Amino acid sequence: MEVSQVTNVMEFEAIAKKKLPKMIYDYFASGAEDEWTLKENRSAFSRILFRPRILIDVSNIDISTTILGFNVSMPIMIAPTGMLKGAHPEGEFAVARAASSASTIMTLSSLGNSSIEEVASTGPGLRFFQLYVYKDRNMVIKLVKRAEKAGYKAIALTVDTPWLGRREADIKNRFNMPPNLTFKNFEGMDIGKFDKTINADSGLAKYYAGFADRSLSWKDIAWLKTITHLPILVKGVITAEDAKIAVQTGAAGIIVSNHGARQLDYVPATIMVLEEVVQAVQGKIPVFLDGGVRRGTDVFKALALGAAGIFVGRPIIWSLAADGEAGVRKALQMLREEFEITMALTGCRSLKEITRKHIAAPWDRA
Ligand code: FNR
Repeated sequence: MEVSQVTNVMEFEAIAKKKLPKMIYDYFASGAEDEWTLKENRSAFSRILFRPRILIDVSNIDISTTILGFNVSMPIMIAPTGMLKGAHPEGEFAVARAASSASTIMTLSSLGNSSIEEVASTGPGLRFFQLYVYKDRNMVIKLVKRAEKAGYKAIALTVDTPWLGRREADIKNRFNMPPNLTFKNFEGMDIGKFDKTINADSGLAKYYAGFADRSLSWKDIAWLKTITHLPILVKGVITAEDAKIAVQTGAAGIIVSNHGARQLDYVPATIMVLEEVVQAVQGKIPVFLDGGVRRGTDVFKALALGAAGIFVGRPIIWSLAADGEAGVRKALQMLREEFEITMALTGCRSLKEITRKHIAAPWDRA
């Protein structure tokens, strides 16, 4: 298939798979262990059905919204994913430009191949910075200050990764960073070296274990709040219990995420636990979702269950690999159009009109 024939974001994957070296494709595609959650992230969406309302004037549809007070053209945003130059030479730059031209938010991974400042230099745009917490807290302070200075609008603190999940494809492939790439954010910083000579297990898992702080706990979020004025989104909450603590700790928002099913296998699909988290939060802070969103209908379902917006991960990687910035623009445009059509066909003219009654979930009573 050619890029010109692609009609939905999922179709980019086959093109990407053909173009990319197996080790790189597998790194992007894989989930943890049996990949049960990976499949479930998708299939759970298919069990939620619509209850569309008819004969409503839908000649004008407005999907614009605000995220943490910032205006965006749609509630579809870009999740942080590492090593985007592995997908395309323009990597994070292409994604940043595509996000900006779509008037939406890009989240830059701390494990990107382009730095905080380089991505900011691509031009104006709304960006969040994703943070892992390192053993060396001075490093964390430096990264957060750099993100502030470069105009990033929020910190997405990833909390589901005290250890890197077992992604067996990476282990089988003896995953190693391609020789031409680096983790650009850490240049000149001492956070351990990516051992490119490694010849056992996943090089990434070993590298990650070298610097990530496995003792990370709720008190560190309180600490983070003392070093930055940026809002902190807690990424990786999937229970009501943790959602309540996140609110108490002063999180500005929650991202319901299972890390694209790359961490703990056999956790539920994110769409299955979204409502539990939304109910626990009681409207005090916005709740977002990522994981398996591939269709405009998925976006609508997440919003009907109470999400303020969603993030997409792999569709951005596949469209980037297939056609660089143009590919990512096309992916975002297709999601936008699908979501607009879903709005029209369910009888919703603005995000405010989406209600829980517009969908039927398997756990609803008859
Ligand atoms: C990720 N994700 C991720 N999350 C994070 O907080 N920091 C990171 O560096 C990365 N890196 C990363 C790499 C790759 C290849 C993938 C697929 C994912 C998780 C990501 O932010 C998001 O939670 C998921 O990708 C969402 O699921 P989908 O849309 O990929 O199904």
